[in-house]
Amino acid sequence: MTPAQSLLRKATGLNLSKPVVERAIKHRMEHNAVSDPDAYLRQMTPAEMTALVELVVVPESWFYRDPQAFVAMSEFVRPRLAANSERRLRILSIPCAGGEEPYTIAMVLTDAGIPSRNFMVDALDISPACVARAKSGIYGHNAFRAQNMAFRDRHFSSDGDGDYRVNDDIRKQVRFAQGNLLEFDLAARTGYYDVVFCRNLLIYFDKPTTKAAIAKLRALLADDGQLFAGYAEVPSFCSHGFTPLSHSQAFGLMKETAPPTKPVLKPAHAPRVVAKPVPPLAARSIASPPSLPPSPPPAPRAPTAAPALDLLAEARRLADLSDIKAAEKHCRDHLAQQPESAEAYFILGLLNELNQQPKMAEDYWKRCIYLQPDHYQALCHLALLAEANNDASGAAALKARAARIYQRQQAS
Ligand SMILES: C[S@@+](CC[C@H](N)C(=O)[O-])C[C@H]1O[C@@H](n2cnc3c(N)ncnc32)[C@H](O)[C@@H]1O
Repeated sequence: MTPAQSLLRKATGLNLSKPVVERAIKHRMEHNAVSDPDAYLRQMTPAEMTALVELVVVPESWFYRDPQAFVAMSEFVRPRLAANSERRLRILSIPCAGGEEPYTIAMVLTDAGIPSRNFMVDALDISPACVARAKSGIYGHNAFRAQNMAFRDRHFSSDGDGDYRVNDDIRKQVRFAQGNLLEFDLAARTGYYDVVFCRNLLIYFDKPTTKAAIAKLRALLADDGQLFAGYAEVPSFCSHGFTPLSHSQAFGLMKETAPPTKPVLKPAHAPRVVAKPVPPLAARSIASPPSLPPSPPPAPRAPTAAPALDLLAEARRLADLSDIKAAEKHCRDHLAQQPESAEAYFILGLLNELNQQPKMAEDYWKRCIYLQPDHYQALCHLALLAEANNDASGAAALKARAARIYQRQQAS
């Protein structure tokens, strides 16, 4: 990483490529009539850093982006207000880019009949230019990409030149501020927010920064609150103490606060995902899959063998008791009856991970996804392993695949 890349990484958390950083530095050097890049970096001031950051952020956003998140939020807050009509909901939108997301939140809640006294949206972005644009509340056609544009008639006034300004009743529901998520001062805000929107930011972070960002978000969110992420970001949240909600296409999550009663299935660094029943597999030969790990030796099939499902349940129970050997034996007995059981391989992977055998764990999870390509949890575990092995591109590909599966499962 070049010194300029690491400087910008430190300031923003963004995982920026060399060409992007070089382009931004060149632009600012020209602006400041500086010809030596080292001198430019040495003379860096806070104001200059802000100007540089503006050139590397991606402030892409639009009203009603991934609209199901707003539907889910509205459904989440209604019963809370029904239970206490005096309550004032606290909502955070970070990063807010040019304000499209927090204004959408305010419009959706207003349209749902929620009185203005019952909610407030805090909206932050690292970019002062974005925050200034958001405060102005004026938008061109790029911000209006939603299919249904009725909201624009309700909540905007046209200036006659193609731009639209958000009406004041919506504007006063949102408080904008410039801020860096990674430096968010938690002193007065721990557990403060009922709802947090953090969408399309973590995709630009590397693994340690993602972890740090999620820790901040977790601290900001009330224990019974909900967080909405970008669809590709769900697996990262699942790896760090969140569990996905079932609302289709909303990419909502909640904190996993329950005590870890099932340590084997929820190791500290493993993705916490909602366990879904595994659909039965279509008949498929696994006789000799190329480049796959060897099958565990099958146990002799006893005429009195317990039903396969019971064996897996028993394997999980034994695993919870940390009886890894017995749990493994049950998985193998299960495989003797159902050689194509992806779930058995998944559990074997977890057991081997617990046993500090990451390579074996990886082999089992690979076999699992060979048998069941949409096994979300196995993909998440493989992504984490790839990250642990510094295989950033492999991890990214696995996460993207897991995210697509998550999205598909949500849709169906
Ligand atoms: C792609 S936009 C996402 C906006 C909105 N949440 C959405 O999904 O439409 C990403 C934004 O993240 C902001 N950003 C980048 N790093 C940040 C950080 N460390 N803290 C807060 N905002 C950051 C950028 O300025 C940019 O406006």
